[in-house]
Amino acid sequence: MSLSSGVPRLVDAVLDRAVVPGYSRLGIALRRGFWADDDPRGGALAGKTAMVTGANSGIGKATAEALARLGATVLLTVRNRERGEKARDEILDTVPDAQVRVEVCDMSNLGTVRAFAADLVNRVPGIDVLVHNAGVLPEARSETSEAHEITLATHVLGPILLTEALLPILGTSGGARIIFVSSGGMYTQSIPVDDLEYRQGDYRGAVAYARTKRMQVALTPILARRWAAQNASVYSMHPGWVATPGVAASLPGFQRLTAPILRTPADGADTIVWLAATARAPESGLFYHDRRPRTEHYLPHRRDDESAVRQLWTFCADAAEISPNRS
Ligand SMILES: NC(=O)c1ccc[n+]([C@@H]2O[C@H](COP(=O)([O-])OP(=O)(O)OC[C@H]3O[C@@H](n4cnc5c(N)ncnc54)[C@H](OP(=O)(O)O)[C@@H]3O)[C@@H](O)[C@H]2O)c1
Repeated sequence: MSLSSGVPRLVDAVLDRAVVPGYSRLGIALRRGFWADDDPRGGALAGKTAMVTGANSGIGKATAEALARLGATVLLTVRNRERGEKARDEILDTVPDAQVRVEVCDMSNLGTVRAFAADLVNRVPGIDVLVHNAGVLPEARSETSEAHEITLATHVLGPILLTEALLPILGTSGGARIIFVSSGGMYTQSIPVDDLEYRQGDYRGAVAYARTKRMQVALTPILARRWAAQNASVYSMHPGWVATPGVAASLPGFQRLTAPILRTPADGADTIVWLAATARAPESGLFYHDRRPRTEHYLPHRRDDESAVRQLWTFCADAAEISPNRS
């Protein structure tokens, strides 16, 4: 039985529209009943290399563990080596034959990302899966040393630059899958074309977070077209509401209120792992949740027009110092 047939389709649609149950552990528990025959097969990633950013915690760590279990060599890409090594050791405790390595890169600093990628392309023959998972929800506005607002730099600029700089080794062994871990929070925002760095008005971390998660989703089709020549598929996705150290620290009220219904990190990683490892690459350029493409807009007034997306893309390409029209 699959999510696209009869009753499962109806249950799936109801969960989607009802939001809270759909994003909760109930949503994935119900949907899981319909996709048992669609799990990536054992050893699906044997011989492949996967990079996961923000891999020392929460969803990133669960993703890294699951990818390693499927046979991938996993590059745990973290901003703090000690935290990365602790995560690596914990993954090895549960998957003793895992091939996991710690790489250090602060995803919010474009100079660091550029230097990291330049070094990596000389050390690693190929990357088959790239998971842009690193995320922050700050209390107050802050800028990187390169004067970019922190959520924009971490969720949008750093990942675009990293992917672009890794192109020489991306998908060299038959295609790559690139996954942006976005958030359903993006439904509440549209692209703030006139204030991409969030300099105007009262700064709210949750708004900055949702805006930049919206940007990831809005850019996914453009990036899918751009990187298609690399035989790369590009996805954005929402993991559901997941109990992680990040949620506990940034949204303690939400965590307290929703604790009984939050997903586990492994649940949150499920669609990332499926996108990375299911036998046939799912359709590129779309936004996924619980193994299905989902609408990018529920609220008509949040819909971005083409010119807003184009302006965002030009801004990002300029900030990352890449040509916006690479062919
Ligand atoms: N949990 C949810 O309910 C939920 C819902 C929707 C979307 N998401 C998304 O899922 C992703 C993972 O979140 P999580 O809930 O698992 O949170 P988490 O436990 O806080 O994990 C976030 C990870 O990102 C890393 N990170 C932050 N800034 C970084 C940087 N500049 N460079 C490199 N790594 C950096 C953190 O490293 P440190 O440990 O060093 O801080 C941490 O490993 C995020 O993109 C988040 O937006 C989560």
